[in-house]
Amino acid sequence: MGDLVLGIETSCDDTSVALVDTQGNVAAIETVSQYEIHSEFGGVYPELASRAHLEAILPVIEKVMTKAGVTPVDLRAIGVTRGPGLMGSLLVGLSTAQALGMAWNIPTYGVNHLRGHIRSVDLEEKRLAYPALVLLVSGGHTLLAYLKNQYSYELLGITRDDSVGECYDKVARTLGLGMPGGPAIDRMAAAGTANIKFPRPMIKSGYEFSFSGLKSSVARYVETHAEFDVKDVAAAFVDACLDVLSTKVLRGINELKPATLAVVGGVAASPQVRACMQNITKQSGVTLCLPPQKWATDNAAMIAMATWDYIEQGITADLEPKPNLKLGDA
Ligand code: KG4
Ligand code: ZN
Repeated sequence: MGDLVLGIETSCDDTSVALVDTQGNVAAIETVSQYEIHSEFGGVYPELASRAHLEAILPVIEKVMTKAGVTPVDLRAIGVTRGPGLMGSLLVGLSTAQALGMAWNIPTYGVNHLRGHIRSVDLEEKRLAYPALVLLVSGGHTLLAYLKNQYSYELLGITRDDSVGECYDKVARTLGLGMPGGPAIDRMAAAGTANIKFPRPMIKSGYEFSFSGLKSSVARYVETHAEFDVKDVAAAFVDACLDVLSTKVLRGINELKPATLAVVGGVAASPQVRACMQNITKQSGVTLCLPPQKWATDNAAMIAMATWDYIEQGITADLEPKPNLKLGDA
């Protein structure tokens, strides 16, 4: 029996394949981005996404296996995202994984993308320890969860409207920064001064989030100030996001006393988010777990890493695409 998991991630607009061992060492990874295909639409165009996955998937798998000098006998299992995500995109990964699993006679696991993000913190180095507070900030999700142990996923709160990543992308568009929005906002914010006070929605209590009001407020500011400074608006926007995120995280740390804080998802690639979380954990004596920056955004290494949980804990899930899969679902 081999000692590598072949991870496959096609839930949105990246075709990603990786080989990862049980320690989180990444033997090879290849991610094909579809940015150029979707940039003219200002968002992901589902039908084009699944077609691009279909063209990319087999060559990417072959490339990863060749790069690592691996054949099917070196594989313990295949792990593939079954949701949440776009139906057509998920279907390409799932059907490919299922066919290869049958052809190579190895088990295939359907994996929850959100659990993949959480396990991204264990890539290259084991970091997660329980109980853990998790802040997941991506393009599709914004949530806080409490993980008492490796079997429990208690949802504390989600966003009522936009996710943080979506908000970064929309504000980037409002400021004329184009796609991908997150890194562009990071660069501008780093050079600006947060001297505009944008609203901090739902900051006062609880674990729920709301970001659409902040997004609209930035749009209104830009419409009504002809000579606005892009850098200062970006800095003030990031400042408002960080204020909300850190307040809710500190609330969770004080109430739940976790051993670690895991901050995951695409927005966890932001240097400002990483620095802010480093600051608050240093002050509160909680250990911070961040994914390596290159693996905060969607990738197959995190899916392979989560697959090891499914193998070791005997979790099985079907290979049907589940576009609305929740954190608590396997
Ligand atoms: O986790 P992810 O790759 O996909 C989803 O599961 O949604 O997250 C994508 C989101 C996008 O909204 C993108 O703008 C944001 O993560 N993002 C960033 C950065 N890189 C990606 N946000 C802030 N700073 C970044 N460097
Ligand atoms: Zn994701």
